[in-house]
Amino acid sequence: MCGIIGAVAQRNVAPILIEGLKRLEYRGYDSAGVALLQQQEIHRIRTTGRVVTLEEAVRKQGAHGITGIAHTRWATHGAPTEDNAHPHVSGGIAVVHNGIIENHEVLRAELRQAGYVFVSQTDTEVIAHLVHFYFKTSQDLFAATREAVARLHGAYAIGVVCNSMPNKLVAARQGSPLLIGVGVEEHFIASDASALLPVTQRFIYLEDGDIAEIGLTSIAVQDKNGQPAEREIMQSEMRPEMVELGEYRHYMQKEIHEQPRALSDTLQELVTNGIQPMLYGPEGESVLSSIERITFLACGTSYHAALTARYWIEALAGIPCNAEIASEYRYRTSVPDPKALIVTISQSGETADTLSALKHAQSLGHNYSLAICNVSESALVRESRLNMITRAGPEIGVASTKAFTTQLAALFTLALVLAKLRGKIDAAAEQKHLEALRALPGQMQRVLALEGQIQKWSEHFAEKQHALFLGRGLHYPIALEGALKLKEISYIHAEAYPAGELKHGPLALVDKDMPVIAIAPNDALLEKLKSNLQEVRARGGELYVVVDEDTHIQEMDEIHKITLPLHAGWLSPILHVVPLQMLSYHAALQKGTDVDKPRNLAKSVTVE
Ligand code: AGP
Repeated sequence: MCGIIGAVAQRNVAPILIEGLKRLEYRGYDSAGVALLQQQEIHRIRTTGRVVTLEEAVRKQGAHGITGIAHTRWATHGAPTEDNAHPHVSGGIAVVHNGIIENHEVLRAELRQAGYVFVSQTDTEVIAHLVHFYFKTSQDLFAATREAVARLHGAYAIGVVCNSMPNKLVAARQGSPLLIGVGVEEHFIASDASALLPVTQRFIYLEDGDIAEIGLTSIAVQDKNGQPAEREIMQSEMRPEMVELGEYRHYMQKEIHEQPRALSDTLQELVTNGIQPMLYGPEGESVLSSIERITFLACGTSYHAALTARYWIEALAGIPCNAEIASEYRYRTSVPDPKALIVTISQSGETADTLSALKHAQSLGHNYSLAICNVSESALVRESRLNMITRAGPEIGVASTKAFTTQLAALFTLALVLAKLRGKIDAAAEQKHLEALRALPGQMQRVLALEGQIQKWSEHFAEKQHALFLGRGLHYPIALEGALKLKEISYIHAEAYPAGELKHGPLALVDKDMPVIAIAPNDALLEKLKSNLQEVRARGGELYVVVDEDTHIQEMDEIHKITLPLHAGWLSPILHVVPLQMLSYHAALQKGTDVDKPRNLAKSVTVE
């Protein structure tokens, strides 16, 4: 979703802003723009399409400046045109914005009355005019921005500059991510830390309602009540090379192959120190011992992790769970249970639907919350009482891969902690689980070695319009995840069903043109699944089956088989999803789609 970067420095910031925009490209966007302050003038350049086009325009026009803001726009209000691209300008004020202003129509009417002329269809343009409106009276950019944002309903992260204040940048956030990068006699703002890694690793994470006035040597933050606020400077562990492509063709491919490392980093503390509630923070034991049920809230891939966790936690710890799509829970009248633990799962920790679902749960009186998240400084982690940080490292590809498998590892850990707290596993069982977890990265490496075979499968998918994924039990959420991956990056329409549900409707879709991908681990449901596969074969469907080593399914015409190592027991979903990730990656390559930045999608979905 939209990306923001800004800088105040004593050097030309144009290259810093362009590099920052490139690093924010993964968030998803369709146009880009920059505003640079040059001798009391705003030099604004906007282009549709990729940041390289903007970079070229900046180079051709020789644009430069010691202060500036820049933006990648993911269209919501108005088409992705140059006129709608940010920065938006009113008088000498320029604004970039991420989020959605819900009352923009009312404000637009009011500003028209005041004589302002609108030249875009965006909600953002009202912010530029509002700041200008208040600035005319006060001549104070910070005060004008504060008055303007007080009028806004909705979500925003904004950066504001003014042509008469060449060393000043004002930033504000409410509901959308924004941080300040702290340099030496230069400061920056950005939507996330990765954009600023070439210039600093020291960050201040703004809180909801904060407004900051940023100069060359000063940063002053006011909180939502207008009071001066001290915000800690945090040293990021992220290194610039973590977000570089290296030997890989795409980030998705790199991230798929990073999974063994990501898993062992995520599990390190558990396998070293054993199963203990402290893994979730100092209140871990008291909170996790008090709860009687769990509600998972998440979106997309993270929701699939929640669905898998439900099987683990109910079976191992005997705690009832439900998993809800965050955007549905948010607007549903639900019955609060003070003994329920609200578990949010998110790669980014900034997903607007998940964040508002958590806030909604809190407003209903839910006091116990746990965030499973890949970004330790994110809003979701800050809002939650307990947390477990997955150690996947920055995930750049829009399609979530290593974030998913590390979420699963963190959730399996949660199942073990809850089971131990309730006396459901003894020391011997604990050791067995820990051994299985220690072996997991190595087993994952063996699965990754199957990439050549998967690539061959993918050749059959290039011409397909549809695909059906089947799984049972623990592997039904994995089928859902396989289908999501395939549609997301290869644009092949894919559905997933619990295999037992096939005969209740979807079997009507099966013919020779419908590839059916089945996950067939050697678990208690294997024989049932085999019967379901016969139902497919009998209708002429072509089967692609991912099996375990000891599963007796024969390869033959129209039954293609890929064999994973021996059945991994409870951990099997973490391995079985990997061939599906690789299948969607190679199918997308066959189709020639933009793997890391699929059309219409954004990495971090910061609007509802
Ligand atoms: C996954 O491939 C998707 N890009 C998407 O479903 C994603 O998982 C979802 O938007 C939730 O994101 P989060 O984990 O950052 O909250």
